[in-house]
Amino acid sequence: MNLAPEIACPPPVACHIEGWRSLVLDEVGSTNSHASSLPPWTAVRANVQTGGRGRIRERHWVSDEGGLWLSAVLPCPGSRRKWELLPLAAGWAVLGALRDFGVADLRLRWPNDLMLGRRKLAGLLVERYQPATAVIGIGVNVFNQPELANPALAGLTARLEDIVPGGYTVDDVARLILRALRRMHAILLQGEFHQIADQLNLDWAKPRRVEITLSGRAHTFAGLFQGVDPHGRLRLLTEREGPCVYDATQVVLLRELD
Ligand code: BTN
Repeated sequence: MNLAPEIACPPPVACHIEGWRSLVLDEVGSTNSHASSLPPWTAVRANVQTGGRGRIRERHWVSDEGGLWLSAVLPCPGSRRKWELLPLAAGWAVLGALRDFGVADLRLRWPNDLMLGRRKLAGLLVERYQPATAVIGIGVNVFNQPELANPALAGLTARLEDIVPGGYTVDDVARLILRALRRMHAILLQGEFHQIADQLNLDWAKPRRVEITLSGRAHTFAGLFQGVDPHGRLRLLTEREGPCVYDATQVVLLRELD
């Protein structure tokens, strides 16, 4: 067997911010994978990810230098069902943090993409590796240039630096997001998702025509996306069946048509 020689790695930088133990790595495969075995209230940020993962079919997520690639481990006590709305609530929390930072006209695309018009500023990947925790993976284009790494992304991404001009660091953005995640967690812990749902429904912006794919169904179908109900179920106005609601776990894919 050909074993590579051991390379001495400098220890990650660790500090405490906003009630989180926060680690900063220079380079990692995926911060979510790295965070998978870490205790709650730990956050991992990397300057570069070599195997960043996206939400849809685990697509590669371009994670070049200058972006915020962050994974936060949240405690999830009690039943799994109680935390099913975490992906929606986390999107709402990150949107609020970026809006407070000065990003106007930010909207959500179901379930938790952060969009400026049709360009994506940030995406979330929420994963449960252990029964009592969840890893909230957050990717925000800050100073990086994803289209240089992948020209197919030209015109599809937005960067924070182009909206809120300099004078801050990636860590400043991370701090705001970690603070917002703590607040969101307290609301979910109390079983108060409905508080979030009202605000969330303003964040989708105008009702849009979408095409959705449901698990176990061969055909996609179109309808008017109408946000979520107080239980976090997706509300869709369909031509054939009128108003319908779908549990987030049923929806494999949602594509905006306008
Ligand atoms: C998506 O919109 O498809 C989700 C993108 C999530 C990317 C972030 S970057 C930090 C964390 N680590 C990963 O491998 N993915 C998430």
